[in-house]
Amino acid sequence: MTRKKIIAANWKMNNMTAETAAFFGAIGDSCKGLNDREVIVTPSFPYLAQAAALAKGRGITIAAQDFHPEENGAFTGEVSLAMLTDLGVRTVLIGHSERRHVMGETHEHIRKKVAFAQKKGFRVIFCIGETLAQRQKGELFAVIDHQLSTAFDGNLTCPPDDMVIAYEPVWAIGTGVNATGAQAQEMHDYIRHFMDKQYGRKDIVILYGGSVKPDNVKELMLMPDIDGALVGGASLKAESFSKLIFWDK
Ligand code: 13P
Repeated sequence: MTRKKIIAANWKMNNMTAETAAFFGAIGDSCKGLNDREVIVTPSFPYLAQAAALAKGRGITIAAQDFHPEENGAFTGEVSLAMLTDLGVRTVLIGHSERRHVMGETHEHIRKKVAFAQKKGFRVIFCIGETLAQRQKGELFAVIDHQLSTAFDGNLTCPPDDMVIAYEPVWAIGTGVNATGAQAQEMHDYIRHFMDKQYGRKDIVILYGGSVKPDNVKELMLMPDIDGALVGGASLKAESFSKLIFWDK
């Protein structure tokens, strides 16, 4: 089976109305009809509807950075999957390092989100990664095992294409220090074997994230188990994101 290639932008808490319009204006129709890779853009909530309208018919998928795993109700400040469906969005990030480490999301909350998204038929980009201290202490693989096991245990029921993993070492996010191709490949290979052994998902799509830039994208993408990239800083402007989308052109 050939695994789908994905180049995804995570805008985090960046890009407002004018920047969103400029981004889609500059990207234009360049992604229309692409069938060897999928392009995803993940704006913050206030700009989802704008981005969804601008992306329509242009071969770009719009995804959400977060959601709350309840149907609806008294959850001030939160966004439901029904609201995302209403906007035509069916892909969500879960487990991003900033949600784990800055917002304090627990393994239990993340597990609940994974279960809820699967129940509602959403596609998940599930983010995992170790801190520098964990890597230096040699806990690298144990941390990844734990993040994968607690999220999916007995609970990975979605169709294969609806679970994408993003390996994002915390020390590489926003630091300008990316994992080398060899470091990322070692972990992607490990994740692939883990997902095959535990869940029979050898062909799961695994993205790399953490300081991906036009000048390092090729080294990463040429690795056999790297199926794409999840990009923060270098995805905010169309000029640099285009170089990542078309890294091999
Ligand atoms: P940077 O590309 O800015 O390092 O961010 C990576 C990331 O966290 C994407 O989710």
